Amino acid sequence: MIDIEILKSSLEGNGFISSVIYLDEVNSTNTYAKNKDIPIDSLIVTDLQSEGKGRLGRKWLTEKQSNLTFSIKKKLPLSPAENQFAVFYFSYYLYSAVKNYLSAALTSQETEELQIKWPNDILFNWKKLSGILIESVLPEGIYIIGIGLNCNQTGFPKEINAVSLKQITGNEIDLTNLLLNIIKEFSVHFSELENENFGYIYNNWKKSTKIIGKDCEFQINNEKAKYGKISDLNEDGSISIQYNDQIVNYFSGEVKLTGIK
Ligand code: BTN
Repeated sequence: MIDIEILKSSLEGNGFISSVIYLDEVNSTNTYAKNKDIPIDSLIVTDLQSEGKGRLGRKWLTEKQSNLTFSIKKKLPLSPAENQFAVFYFSYYLYSAVKNYLSAALTSQETEELQIKWPNDILFNWKKLSGILIESVLPEGIYIIGIGLNCNQTGFPKEINAVSLKQITGNEIDLTNLLLNIIKEFSVHFSELENENFGYIYNNWKKSTKIIGKDCEFQINNEKAKYGKISDLNEDGSISIQYNDQIVNYFSGEVKLTGIK
C-alpha cells in the first residue's frame, strides 16, 4: 500500500516533482497525464489501472496494490531526433535505483543478473521486472514517462516470463520507500539530461545490457518474425540485427531472446 502523505511531503516542491496525484483506480496513469490538465512535473500514482498500456499497443496488467504503476509528466529539452535519450536516461536510472535497492538483499554477484533490454525493459535473470512507456506531446516537448515495476506480485501468466522484486529477494517490498528512491535517482542526475550529456547517458545505458551477441527473434508491426543475432545498440536509439547476409537497424519493434534458458 502506498503512503500518499509520505510521498507528498517528501516530493512536492523538491524541484523535480511539483505535485503528487494519487488515484485509487484509473484507466492508465499515462493516459491521465496526457489528457488531463495537470501541471508539468506531476507524478501520477495509482493502486490499479483498468487499461494499463504497454509498448507496441500491448496491455500492461498488474494486481491491485501489489506493484508500482506511475507516470511522470516532464518537459524535456530534446529535439525529435533526441527522443531516445529520454528512453536511455529513464531506463538507466530506474535500473540503477532498482540495483541499489536489491543490493541490500542480494550479493553483488546476484545483482549482476539485473540488466536493461532494448529499448527500456528491466530484466532480472532474463525475466521481465519492469517496463517503461514514454509518450511525447510535441512540439511542446512534454513527455509522459510511465513505469510499471513488479514488486509484490508473486504469480504471473507463464507466457509473459515476468518476475517481481519479492520473488527475487523473498521480502515484502515497501512501495512508498522504493518509489521515493526511484524518484530521487531521476532527480539527482537530471542535470545530465538538461545539460545534454547525451554520450554519457548512452554509454551508461549500453553498459547495463547483456543482449549484444545474443540470438533473437525480431518482429516489427505484424510482419513475420525474423531470426538473427543482436550485433549492436546504437546512440540513435536503433538496434542492429545481423541476419545471414546483412545487418539491419530498427528503431522500433519487439526483440525476443532465443536460446536463453
Ligand atoms: C512495456 O513494457 O510494454 C511498457 C509498460 C509500461 C507500463 C506503465 S504502468 C504506468 C504507465 N501507465 C500505463 O498505462 N503504462 C505505463
